[in-house]
Amino acid sequence: MKVDLEARQKDDQIVWEDCAQTYEEQVVEGHPDIRSAESLEEEWLGHLLRKRSWQRPEQIHVVEAGCGSARVLAQLAAAATQTEDLEPTDRKLLQAYRRLRPEGAFHSAWAQTCGKMVGVDFSRSMLALAEERFSRIGLSRWIQSRRVQLIHGSAFQLPPTAPGQPWVICLLNSIGVMQGEEGARALLRSVRQAAGASGVGFISAYRAEAMETHGLNQYESTLEVAGIPDWLEGDVPTGCRARARQTPRAGEAQEVLPVDWVDESGALTGHGELRRQPDRVRQVCLTGQVRTRSGYQSRWYPWSQMAQLVRDEWGEAGWQISPGRLDHLRGRPLQWLWFDPTGWIRESLG
Ligand SMILES: C[S@@+](CC[C@H](N)C(=O)[O-])C[C@H]1O[C@@H](n2cnc3c(N)ncnc32)[C@H](O)[C@@H]1O
Repeated sequence: MKVDLEARQKDDQIVWEDCAQTYEEQVVEGHPDIRSAESLEEEWLGHLLRKRSWQRPEQIHVVEAGCGSARVLAQLAAAATQTEDLEPTDRKLLQAYRRLRPEGAFHSAWAQTCGKMVGVDFSRSMLALAEERFSRIGLSRWIQSRRVQLIHGSAFQLPPTAPGQPWVICLLNSIGVMQGEEGARALLRSVRQAAGASGVGFISAYRAEAMETHGLNQYESTLEVAGIPDWLEGDVPTGCRARARQTPRAGEAQEVLPVDWVDESGALTGHGELRRQPDRVRQVCLTGQVRTRSGYQSRWYPWSQMAQLVRDEWGEAGWQISPGRLDHLRGRPLQWLWFDPTGWIRESLG
């Protein structure tokens, strides 16, 4: 791996160790628009895996790059678990989870083809949250038996899978937080390598074209995750951080963001506001490149830039789809990349 990329991974790793819990609460489980994009990923991935399981009995091994708190691996494990096989306490936990996440309902064909699952993440704090999630929903036996392995490592060096068909996934714009374009290319290469000639690769990302309607608001309402984006002007009182007072939804434009100031212990110390700087906003919407005041960078890649990356790294085996075609409201801000050497996904999505 190139020295620059390695250094950027180290820097970003510190940020993710630090923000894991807040990210989980405010982003993964907390923001309604983000939850809506997640639910679309969960539905379609579940649908395609079930379809594939009906067609062929061969084992499927799912590998997730940047698995975070294992939102999706947990759902896939739930869908392969029969409550009758669990102790009463775990059974109740799983039933409660399924009431909130119907995608975790038991599916017999998937239960038969679901092989081992591996989640790779460079943040130990995120992996700890993943393990907690499995216990919380009554599925800790998947971790104990090592049918799910949570590996501390780089998304750019994914482990080999057991014999069967690998499905290598990377969700919720993780590609956009994976250390710039060099990182994105390294990710595409590692997905390709791990999926091999008969596997599937799936990357779900936001697109720069939705930065104005969806991105600005998402970053502004989750200021405590990675800090204040540099398009917002306004002084922050010494020793305080800003917390958004509202969660503006997609499409709601607001030039001024009301915030609470909170001290290091999280106690409220006052109120204030941050204001959008129009030139900087224009630039961010054009490039999709986000930088916070602390220097942390992430991206919503423009559609055409992603298309180029797919052509370069996956060639004929790769293609890109706007999931707005599948679901206009939830899919519009997203772009999905498929590594699909057998063409089965293209055929299935039509
Ligand atoms: C946007 S979160 C997505 C979490 C999860 N996939 C989900 O959909 O809920 C991105 C995750 O990627 C991890 N990450 C970022 N760069 C990474 C890298 N180079 N190698 C491994 N993990 C990385 C972060 O620690 C974080 O958990």
